[in-house]
Amino acid sequence: MKSLPLYELPEEIGRLPEKMQALVIRREREGEPAQAMQLEELPLPPIGPNDALVLVMAAGVNFNGVWAARGKPVSVFQMHRDPFHVAGSDASGIVWKVGENVRRWKVGDEVVLHCNQSCGQCPECNGLDPMACTEQKIWGYETSWGSFAQFTRVQAQQLLQKPKRLGWLEAASYGLTYFTAYRMLVHQAQIKPGDDVLVWGAAGGLGVFAVQICRVIGANPIGVVSSEEKRELLRTLGCDRVIVRKGFDLAKREGETPEQTAHRLSETKRFGAALRELTGGKDPDVVFEHVGRQTFPASVFLAKRFGKIVICGATSGFNLEFDVRHLWMRQKQILGSHFCNAYQAERANRLVAEGKIVPVLDRVFPFPEGALAHQLMAENQHRGKMAIAVQCDPTGGAAR
Ligand SMILES: NC(=O)c1ccc[n+]([C@@H]2O[C@H](COP(=O)([O-])OP(=O)(O)OC[C@H]3O[C@@H](n4cnc5c(N)ncnc54)[C@H](OP(=O)(O)O)[C@@H]3O)[C@@H](O)[C@H]2O)c1
Repeated sequence: MKSLPLYELPEEIGRLPEKMQALVIRREREGEPAQAMQLEELPLPPIGPNDALVLVMAAGVNFNGVWAARGKPVSVFQMHRDPFHVAGSDASGIVWKVGENVRRWKVGDEVVLHCNQSCGQCPECNGLDPMACTEQKIWGYETSWGSFAQFTRVQAQQLLQKPKRLGWLEAASYGLTYFTAYRMLVHQAQIKPGDDVLVWGAAGGLGVFAVQICRVIGANPIGVVSSEEKRELLRTLGCDRVIVRKGFDLAKREGETPEQTAHRLSETKRFGAALRELTGGKDPDVVFEHVGRQTFPASVFLAKRFGKIVICGATSGFNLEFDVRHLWMRQKQILGSHFCNAYQAERANRLVAEGKIVPVLDRVFPFPEGALAHQLMAENQHRGKMAIAVQCDPTGGAAR
């Protein structure tokens, strides 16, 4: 059997075709996603004793696919030795084959995947946190064989039960960003009921979950977005306190003149006043950061005395400049955070299974249009999350 036809569930679960269809990035075509990601046929990935092969029903789109396509800031071909890269760090699917050491899962189980891989053998994996393992990698970004293919290879510890209440497309859409936001707020910043939490990009992939996590814990999210339309999306998620950032010139620019810096500072103060109007005069206990260069100086300024800035990314640039006096004089903390471990992913996944956290699926694409979905994300033309139908029906119906 060559590769399987798309959008169908094979009759015989566990039967392996010779090849699979995959959206592939190659070094020579790194660039904008629309050109970098192309459909090819590949052999199926071999699996090790602790691995599982999963038939991908649907795959979720994340910003790391944009980084991978562009080859910037780092080429994925510097991270692994495969001559091709299959991106994709979110999926829902069916376990199709398991390695000889795998006990907790069997062929036919319906799963979603978390994207952290680690060696599983070092003291860090076995006592501290797998995120501290020196071999820690994000599957589908720092490794190849990600979810934009008919089959994906994962470590069995990455498997989580698919929430029964969700269809394949929704189930594929939330893992990477939701689990990241969960670790940032619950474990790193340790938000508490009553905390005010300023969320940049609140209608984006991380943001839609950050505001929901705040609500579940009893904290108060204040969302920042760029349009009125996105304000409406936040309202449906229970976040009524929203600032539309277009009215403020906050962005830190390259090579600012002293006048530009003074203007930015006065704009930041004006933004702070708008924020305090929403909080009853309080500064935020926690700032949820992932925009990086353009917003970080404002984040450090705006957090309250003894407040926390928790950061996991830098969409607008990773060389950050800020006035450190605001940090030490007001004793604020900057906390780095990166994805999460399997235990945190499992705890977070239970909240989805219970319906307390809901995926926000903006758009669905058929498999051959996966590159287009990434291009829209690169151009910030999306809200919430996007998913790609691989073996499931792109119209949302079940494949069986
Ligand atoms: N370390 C990790 O584990 C991890 C995990 C997930 C994501 N990340 C990183 O986090 C970042 C965000 O990911 P995402 O999935 O949430 O992306 P996303 O869906 O594109 O959302 C990001 C949001 O940021 C806002 N934004 C963009 N540029 C901005 C600017 N200059 N100023 C203010 N807001 C701006 C946009 O919202 P508005 O235009 O509405 O303001 C956008 O919706 C990416 O860089 C990603 O690589 C890291």
